[in-house]
Amino acid sequence: MAKEISRRTFIRGTAAAGVVLAAGASGCFSGKEGNKNVPGEVKRGNVTYDVLIIGSGGAGMRAALAASEVKGLKVAVMTKLVPTRSASTMAQGGMNGVTGLTDPKDSVESHFRDTVKGGDWLGDQDAIEYFAERAGKNIFEMDYMGYPYNRQEDGHFHSRKMGGSSHPRAAYFEDRAGHAMVHTLFEQCLAQNVEFISECQMLEISMSGEEDKKLNGVIAMDMRTGDIIGVPAKTVLIATGGYGRVYWVRTSNPYSSTGDGIVAGMNIGVPFKDPEMVQFHPTGLAANGVLLSESSRAEGALLKNKDGERFMVKYAPEKKELATRDIVARAIATEIEQGRGVGEGIHAGVYLDFTVIPPERIRERLGQVADLSRRFAGVDITKEPVLISPTCHYSMGGLEMADFKTGATRVPGIYTAGECSCVSVHGANRLGANSLSEVLVFGHTAGDGAAAYAQEHEYAGSQDALQADCEKWSKNFDEVTSRGKNEGRTVPEIRDSLINTMWFKAGVFRTEQQLREAEQELIALRQEYGHCYVGDSSHVYNTAYEQYVELGNLIQIAQAIVQGAIARKESRGGHSRRDFPQRDDQNFLKHTLIFKEKDGSYRAEYKDVVITSYPPTERKY
Ligand code: FUM
Repeated sequence: MAKEISRRTFIRGTAAAGVVLAAGASGCFSGKEGNKNVPGEVKRGNVTYDVLIIGSGGAGMRAALAASEVKGLKVAVMTKLVPTRSASTMAQGGMNGVTGLTDPKDSVESHFRDTVKGGDWLGDQDAIEYFAERAGKNIFEMDYMGYPYNRQEDGHFHSRKMGGSSHPRAAYFEDRAGHAMVHTLFEQCLAQNVEFISECQMLEISMSGEEDKKLNGVIAMDMRTGDIIGVPAKTVLIATGGYGRVYWVRTSNPYSSTGDGIVAGMNIGVPFKDPEMVQFHPTGLAANGVLLSESSRAEGALLKNKDGERFMVKYAPEKKELATRDIVARAIATEIEQGRGVGEGIHAGVYLDFTVIPPERIRERLGQVADLSRRFAGVDITKEPVLISPTCHYSMGGLEMADFKTGATRVPGIYTAGECSCVSVHGANRLGANSLSEVLVFGHTAGDGAAAYAQEHEYAGSQDALQADCEKWSKNFDEVTSRGKNEGRTVPEIRDSLINTMWFKAGVFRTEQQLREAEQELIALRQEYGHCYVGDSSHVYNTAYEQYVELGNLIQIAQAIVQGAIARKESRGGHSRRDFPQRDDQNFLKHTLIFKEKDGSYRAEYKDVVITSYPPTERKY
């Protein structure tokens, strides 16, 4: 069970850590060997990590903090970016948790109930209850760590009410909640001597054996030099975030959200749970998918169609703009389809009108939204409405977390947390501001879980096998990057085909026919991928090869989404089948589990949803 941090223990810890930082933090991130992205001992193969975390977002860094509290453990975070550039930095609205400070009528029970209903009863209720009980405490912990919350007159943090919530319970810093979280956690990781291995693209988790699998470590490409390195580890914690780039320009996710960890996990036997459950956030800029936070609507912005009608009144008479994201996204898509939107094709949209909000409140609480609208759509939101439409934002599905109290997957030594995992708390639709709290709660428990495993086990992997996997990838690099121009289409060309398939055939609304077409198109793309043209064979920052690796992951993610969506013949949360418009609890109150077979094909199994307190009822807002 996760240890809690009190203000007193925290202040004591940071005071000591301050001395360490002042005395020794000369290096870039490791604090040891000068300005290097990869610590020298990793390059020399002289280190075996107890806990190696892949991904430096909120979940990865919260896990690192928890694991590094265990004395004597060697803990590192590997990222393909630099630690403060993860997708978590782009989260805007806030983190849900009941603190009792903004609305004394709110309760853990209410947070639990809202999350069950928001997820359209696909969430596991034992996990949701565990989550709701801990979310508020994590908000206080972040306060002790120095998170710069927006505050009320009395000094307590202020909370806002995000979509699908019955009370204001999202604590926040302006509309940059994730940015502040990542920086706060990074400071604490440095203070606790967590090592960072940055700009390293994970290629594979190396395991030996068939039945009795042994973890060797992680194979990665050092982007600065092109070296393929093998990093031995007793445990690997996958926290690589989502895969929104399956929808390329119609996503709020950064370019790095390519599902690398999910595919690496599937390759070693961890199933991909509920892949068909993709969240389309209602308000991405119509021009390019960039997120305009739900906190815009929490602060009062209104959705209007081309006739100036406030259409959400029709679709969700009670909660209107603050209904859940799946409902609002479908309402917008319907308005556009029925000719009440503005513009054409993938960039058509409806208006988000901020002019009803006092400009000083926009400055205080929605500064980033104003900035993004100005930079990416040329609109001053204090003066005129901005055009928005749904954008792929989040994956409710992910690597199956077999035990939510430890973050363990079903493969020994492999842990997971954050968006790449499926706990399952969010079910078929995540509530706004439940994601940042989820990464804190389950990042913490997964860090504890991995540390406990590392304390109880010796390294049982094989360094020879790790080396052999490095050589396999070096050969792959040489083969792929030496292909000639006429051997196949380029990575960007195949990626363009992928996103067209996914946006138009596996998007906000789906039908059997569209999904079957998508299935065939993806098979063809996977074949084309096998001989695509990469071009660049240089070793220093070879982003062409990196994008090649990422595209392979995106195609495999897309295939899992489509397979899950074909089989789920109902509509639930973010999965909306035009041909099966009703939720079907008789047949589909169950999770999809997609396993990858040795030949690369997928096999589906199903698992019952855990219902403890709230049996399914009609979902109205
Ligand atoms: O709209 C937003 O600010 C997003 C928040 C979230 O995904 O939790």
